[in-house]
Order: sequence, then structure tokens, then C-alpha cells
Amino acid sequence: MLPGDRIPRTILEHRRQRSPGRAPGAPGLHTLVLGGGGREYAIAWALARSNSVATIDVIPGNAGMAIFARTLDMDPTDIGRLDQHIAASRIDLAIVGPDELVARGLGDALRRTAIAVVGPSKEAGRIEWSKTFAKELMAEAGVPTATWRAFPDAASAAAALGDGPVVVKADGLAGGKGVVVARDRDEARSALGSASISHGSVVLEEVLAGEEASLQALVDGETVVALPPARDHKRVGQGDTGPNTGGMGAYSPAEVLPDDQAQGLADRLIAPVAHALARRGTPYRGVIYAGLIRTSDGWKVLEYNARFGDPEAEVTLPRIEGDFGALMLALGEGRLAAYVAERPLRFSSRAYVSVALCSAGYPGKPETGAAIEGLEHLPEGAWAFHAATKRVGTRTVTSGGRVIHVVGGGDTVADARRVAYMGAEKISWPGRFYRSDIAAQGVAV
Ligand code: AMP
Ligand code: GLY
Repeated sequence: MLPGDRIPRTILEHRRQRSPGRAPGAPGLHTLVLGGGGREYAIAWALARSNSVATIDVIPGNAGMAIFARTLDMDPTDIGRLDQHIAASRIDLAIVGPDELVARGLGDALRRTAIAVVGPSKEAGRIEWSKTFAKELMAEAGVPTATWRAFPDAASAAAALGDGPVVVKADGLAGGKGVVVARDRDEARSALGSASISHGSVVLEEVLAGEEASLQALVDGETVVALPPARDHKRVGQGDTGPNTGGMGAYSPAEVLPDDQAQGLADRLIAPVAHALARRGTPYRGVIYAGLIRTSDGWKVLEYNARFGDPEAEVTLPRIEGDFGALMLALGEGRLAAYVAERPLRFSSRAYVSVALCSAGYPGKPETGAAIEGLEHLPEGAWAFHAATKRVGTRTVTSGGRVIHVVGGGDTVADARRVAYMGAEKISWPGRFYRSDIAAQGVAV
């Protein structure tokens, strides 16, 4: 896969020449973000506000990021070209954004180049891309989760259905669309026949009831450092109706999981699987994001993701105090424990709310290519975190389902929400829609 050892050796040499005497967080880091959606926009945005960071490259990025970062129109899985870019641009730190790239083994490929990498190996990343692996690991580590059964295909799962409600999940990656909470056997049958679930192995799960929260943590082997908790809205329709999506909006802090409980929960619900992975000889280095549910029996894990949440990153990264680039470098170099011992991670008390502006058709096949109007009219305190936009001539046009996450900041969730919706109203194109009830239950925070 690599063009010999020459490029990794060159990179190592460059880093050696540049590193002596450089204090952690000293200016001059050359960074690379892989991916091109709203989460990667949030990562690049946080790097842009870091004193330690000199340059930000994003592959492939999108039109919005091109304003403050260098975007490169190339395939992030073309390892040969990626190596050449890393060497030529003297990259110090790479952050892998999307789950598909983790599952394609980008973490392993990048680590061979001797730069600092935030993103797990393909093997450790199985916690996201194989639901059965995640469930087995939770059983081994004693992490509470829904009871479950795995099936090699949809037909054998259909044969095992009972009368009652059941959760039907595709075993592999499905862009947030491979989960159906079925009320009865008929709904479960039709879920098993749907395009995103019918191919490949399937998990049937007990339906859990309760409030949900998203908890992300930086994980460096056995070290687990919680990030600000958030809450997202996965269903496409008002009042949490309709099919699941990648996420229609999010907010942080979240009333259901206060900031001061984040580390304790991460110690109970994320650290045990990090330890189990380390014991297996496949330590995790990157971000683990746990989807949690607060049942009458206490918090349980719905799923793990091997990356920042999207849109959780959009509302949590702005709340991380200190130099984000230096923090990511420490994680990527395997010295997170020492770094946070000296500089404990603090969350700002500001609140952030994100609202996803979507193209007609999403979460099915979206209409794309529409010219986006109003980007210049955002109110004070609101940002447009682009997720699927591209430049055509002088215009910015839509290029996917979730197009822009409008992020509002404020002293309270209510303030942040007001600003986010003022911004959402300003930006439009034919067919754009958004949920108007994002963070409605969080306004007391
Ligand atoms: P996941 O991708 O596994 O997080 O599932 C997406 C959404 O489906 C979750 O945010 C929940 O709303 C719902 N869900 C997943 N698993 C369960 C479960 N066992 N019980 C109830 N709801 C679930
Ligand atoms: N917010 C859902 C996800 O990132 O999977």
C-alpha cells in the first residue's frame, strides 16, 4: 500500500528537525483533517482557534471550510497521495473524522507515516462498525446495555421475531439509518426488508425506554477524558417522528446529563471497553462517542461510535477550553494522561445549539445543486458550519442531505437556541427544511 518506506522516513526526519525544544502547544503545528462534513468543519474550526496551530488542511473538506482552511479535492483513502501530501506539507497531526474512514483502516495507514494520529485502528474501531463486536465487548467489560441476539441475515432474524416491540439494527455502518425501533412484528418485518437493513447480518435488541444523551470522550489506551455531554435529535420530523437520520440538531449543555456527571459516567460506561481493548492488544486512540439512555435501571449504552458525533461535535467542541490543537496532539502522540494532569480539561459555561438545514428528500435521496442564499446575513453569535456545500462559479450550492448546521452560542440554551433559529431563517434554498423544535426541552439549562 505504501510506496516503500521512503515517505514515512522523510516525514519522521522532518518532524525530528522541527520538534526539538518545541513546548507542547507551541505555535507552528501543521494539521490535517480527513472528511468533509459538519463534524470536520467543527474540528477544523476548533483548530483555527488554537494558538498552537499554523496550518489546517482538510481532505476533501467543503466550500465553507475553504474560507479558513486549505481544502484538497482528493480521495482521502488514496494512501499513496495522502503520504505524499503529509510529507510535502510537513503535517504533524491528522484527525480522522468519519466512521467510513475508520472502517477503511485510515487510522492504521496514517500511523505508519509517523505523524500524530487521532483516530482508532480499524480493529479498535470495530466498536462502531460491528454492533455484535460492540455488544460482546460490553458483555466482557460489564457495561450495561440492551439484551440482544445476532443473526447472520434478515431472514433468520424474521423467523425469530416475537409479537412485541423490538429494535432492529443492521450490523455494519448505515449512516445513522440502520436502526428501526419497531412497535410490533409487522413493523419489524418491514424494517428487516428495508434497503439499509436487508443486506448482511442483523441484531435484534430489547427496546429500552428513557431519555437519551451523547457522551464523547478522548481515549488514549487506558486514559479516558470526558468531553461536554450533549443531546441530539435523530428523527427527521418534529416531535421526534419519522425515520432516523444522521442527526437534525444538537445542544450542549444537556439537562439530562449535567457536565459534572460526564467524567463519572465515562469512567463507568466508556473506560471499561477501552481497558478491554487494551487487554486484547488493540488499544484505542481517538474519540469514543457513546449513545446513552437513562432507563429506570440507570444509564445504559445504546451504541458506541469511533469518532466525534455529528452534530454533537458542532456544539461540544466550542465548549472545550484551552488549546484544542495541543490537546489533539497530546492524544495523537499517546501522552493524553500527562497532558491533562498538567492542564485539566475545562468546559466553558456557554451553551451551543445546532440546527441542521437539510435538502428536500433527506434522509432519502436528497435534491442537490441548489444555490444557497443568505449566508452573509447571519446574526451576531451564529455560525454556519457547512456540511455539504460546494462552490460553483461564484455561488455556494448544496451537495448533500444535511447541508449546513447553524450553530448559535449564548449564556443559556434558550439564548443559544434563539440565535441558532434566527440564523436558520436567514439561510435558504428551494426545498430546504429544518426541525423547529431542536433543544426545546433543553431551554431550562
Ligand atoms: P443507534 O444508532 O444504535 O444509536 O440508534 C439510533 C437511535 O435508535 C437511538 O438514538 C435510539 O433513539 C434508538 N435506539 C437504538 N437502540 C435502542 C434500544 N435498544 N431501545 C430503544 N431505542 C433504541
Ligand atoms: N449524532 C449521531 C452520530 O453522530 O452518529
